[in-house]
Amino acid sequence: MEIIAHGIDLVDCPRIEQMLKRHGERFLDRVFTSAERAYADSNKNGIEKLAGRFAAKEAVLKLMGTGWRGKIAWTDIEVVNDTAGRPEVRLDGEVKQIADSLGITHISVSITHTANFAIASAVALAQANEGK
Ligand SMILES: CC(C)(COP(=O)(O)OP(=O)(O)OC[C@H]1O[C@@H](n2cnc3c(N)ncnc32)[C@H](O)[C@@H]1OP(=O)(O)O)[C@@H](O)C(=O)NCCC(=O)NCCS
Repeated sequence: MEIIAHGIDLVDCPRIEQMLKRHGERFLDRVFTSAERAYADSNKNGIEKLAGRFAAKEAVLKLMGTGWRGKIAWTDIEVVNDTAGRPEVRLDGEVKQIADSLGITHISVSITHTANFAIASAVALAQANEGK
């Protein structure tokens, strides 16, 4: 396996809170999967959790290199945590198709957050090209 791309993003947590106040359920439904919403709901610092996931989605879009495209949905990128708390990325829809076309077999993401900021960094792995 080799790293073929990297993406990073910084999100302002109060901005996510504002979006939530302004657009409520519509914002949550459009951007987050039910598992992501449940994870944020179960934590006292839910806004940070949402902001971390938002940053992870943008970091993944950056590593794809395509930027925002018509058919992409925010929920095509889902971040779930394993039993140790480590975040894992699952892809669906248009984003999965783009990832497949780039030969991406795995995306590794790391998230950190405070009350003010959330940062995510994501790397894409592909099968090593032995012929190089
Ligand atoms: C995993 C750990 C490093 C997270 O760091 P933190 O400073 O508490 O919190 P951060 O905001 O930087 O990071 C939180 C993110 O770490 C990620 N994370 C949690 N457990 C993880 C693990 N086992 N592996 C990789 N990433 C992990 C998650 O993505 C989490 O955000 P999320 O819940 O929104 O998905 C920390 O909880 C830990 O276990 N530290 C070990 C030392 C320790 O216990 N210190 C406390 C006393 S000083």
